[in-house]
Parts: sequence; structure tokens; C-alpha cells
Amino acid sequence: MTPKILIKFLFIFLFSLKSYAKARFVRVVFNGNAALEASIIWDQEEGEFTGFYMDTIDPSYNRFVNRYPLYSSNTMRGMKNMIVRVNDLIPNTIYYFLIKDSQGLSKLYHFRTAPNRPETPISFIAGGDSRDNRPVRIKANKLVPKLQVNAVLFNGDFINLDIEKQWVEWFTDWENTIAADGRITPMMVTRGNHELSNKVIYQLFDVPNRKLFYSTTFGGDLLHIVSLNSEILKIGRQKLFLRLALAKHKDYKWQIAQYHRPIRAHVKEKKEMETQYKNFVPLFEKYKNLPLCLENDSHTCKVTWPIVSSKAAGSSEGFIRDDKNGIVYAGEGCWGAPLRAADDQKPWTRDAGAVNQFNWIFVSSEKIELRTVLYENEDKIIDLTYENRFTIPSGLELFGPKNGTLIELFPRK
Ligand SMILES: [Fe+2]
Repeated sequence: MTPKILIKFLFIFLFSLKSYAKARFVRVVFNGNAALEASIIWDQEEGEFTGFYMDTIDPSYNRFVNRYPLYSSNTMRGMKNMIVRVNDLIPNTIYYFLIKDSQGLSKLYHFRTAPNRPETPISFIAGGDSRDNRPVRIKANKLVPKLQVNAVLFNGDFINLDIEKQWVEWFTDWENTIAADGRITPMMVTRGNHELSNKVIYQLFDVPNRKLFYSTTFGGDLLHIVSLNSEILKIGRQKLFLRLALAKHKDYKWQIAQYHRPIRAHVKEKKEMETQYKNFVPLFEKYKNLPLCLENDSHTCKVTWPIVSSKAAGSSEGFIRDDKNGIVYAGEGCWGAPLRAADDQKPWTRDAGAVNQFNWIFVSSEKIELRTVLYENEDKIIDLTYENRFTIPSGLELFGPKNGTLIELFPRK
């Protein structure tokens, strides 16, 4: 063996000895002002956590000076969920972080804080219901990093059975949302009926309220997203929260509401959510800057025309189309759960059908654009860059069988 080959073997041997931190399922969650703060959470599978380092460059280049303390930890669903809360961040900035434990360093991850100015448009993916069909949900997950969105809004029914095995599978599959270079798309979550307690979501995603209703803001006063919990009482504290949160952000350019159960499901077997109709809708309709509600749960796809609550002639199930004053309700799954036929369409349904999809949403100070992405051909889609993230990539299939694929929303009159 020549010295050159010997050195090569030695190098490979030494490299194989290098050990990595046993931090897995790393996620970033926006749970407040997305321009300034975030929660970073992971499962400490083995070893002892020794440090979290984050910087606007690789923290190791900066001799690990920016160390952040652990905020809390818990053992929900068999995982040791470690939570670091970071704040006072610079808006619209890439932050790199490393997790150190007794076994080594994690790979280098990064994420981008949201802009803090309403002039800078933002984009989201919104969806939910990822419970059973892993190959399908992996396709949706793989498309996430390619679209370069500011955040994913994930609205419940992550799993079918709320047990350790299914959560570990869910987080394993969610790893596909992390780009090859370590870029993480931050999330915001709400609870579905398959999550058996508030505590599961509270602990796995560091939601800032134990009852899981909370506000997140983007772009300064561009957008307030209000996250609601359709699995608990809609009166009392949740209704009071909603009333105060919408009033507090009434001068924002936009407000969007998200929750798991649709008020008027487009699948017959699903019940009407009268408590949400009575308690949420009048508050939504009070604010002209709230043109969009994101719903899930049914495992189908629907987008409504703008609608208002009404019992007048021509109304159906308590709503009537009103293009000037109405709110668009979009979503109803489906991120990998078993598809159901959209067999309960209304006169005010714009388009509906049993397709696997998520919503792709652009928010600027002028308008909101919503498209429904049929994600199953994700392998044909070439990654967008951050600079061209408002471009529709070639080959991307959009839903819109009768009334077009683009839904544009303007402030209500
Ligand atoms: Fe559900």
C-alpha cells in the first residue's frame, strides 16, 4: 500500500469515528411575532444536551459565542422534546444554528425570520390531515422546501392514532421538509380531533397558550394570523380571546383565521360546526380586513366564493354568496389522509373535489393570492429560489376545474 492510499484510508477511518449529536426531528415554530422570535424544538434521542448556538453565520465560525439557554423540555409521546425560545432577532434574516450534546454536534440548520415591513410580500403553505398515507404525505412534505415559503400553517390531524409510534413516523416524514442544505421552513399549528389533548400540541410545538388559541404576526402590521382550537369550547375564554385578538389587529392590512374543523364541511358525513358558526363567524365578519379562513378535517378539497352568514332567501346552510362583503373559506385537507368525495357542495362553493392538495398563499399589502396545489408530482418540480419565490414553477399542477386556479382577495368593502 502506497503512503498516499494509506493516508486516504486513515482519513476515511477517522471521519467514520466522528460522532454526531443525537438531536433529531428539529423544527422551528413561529408562535408570536415571526419577524423577531421563534421556538426551536427537537427530540434529544440520546446523550446529554450541552448547548444551543445560533448566529447569522455558522456559529462555529464565530467560536460559538452566541449560546442560547434551554427554555424547557418535556417527554411527550416518548420523545424528549427540547425547546429553545429565541427572541430579539433581526427581521428577514437567515439564522444558522447548531445543537451540541455529549455525542457531538448536530448538522448545521438554518431558517429565515419573517420580514417586519408590510412592503415585503410573504408566502405560506396551508394544509392539514396527514394521518395515514405516508407515501402521499411524504410527497407533500418534499414540495415544502421547494416553494420557499415563509411558513407552513398546519391545521391538525397530524396522526391517526395519537400514539408514540405514529408521531415518530410523522416527524420522520416531516424531515423531508428540510432542504438538503439544512434550511427549515418554520411552522404554525392548530389541533385536530385526532390529537387527543391540547397538551400534545402544546408540548410538541411550544404553542404559546395551553388551550391552543393564539396570535402570530408577519410583516409588521401586514398580517395577523389567528389560530383557533375547534376541539374545545367556542364560548368563554376562546371567544373572548378571538374578540380581543381581532380587535387588537383591526388596523393591520390583513387577518386570516385558521382552525381544524370546517364550519360547513363539503363531505356529507361530517357534522356542521354550529358552535363555530354562532361564535366565530360573527366576529370574523365584523372585521373587513379578514377575507380568508383556512379549514381542514374532511379529507377533500374546497374553495368557496366570498360568503356571508345569512338566513335570507337564496342562502344555504346559513351562508349566501356576497362578492363584496364575503369571506372565502378554503382547505378541508388533504395531506395524506384517506380522501373523501366532496359530496356536500353548496350553491356558494367555488370548486371542490377529492384531491390531495395544500393551499399556497401570497400576501402583499395590495392583495392575497390563493392557489391550491396538487402536490403529487413534486418530483417534477424544480426548486424555487428565495428571489423568485412568487413564480409558479413549471409543471406545478393547480386545482381549479371550473373557475380558474387563482383566487384573489382584496380588503372587503
Ligand atoms: Fe379531523
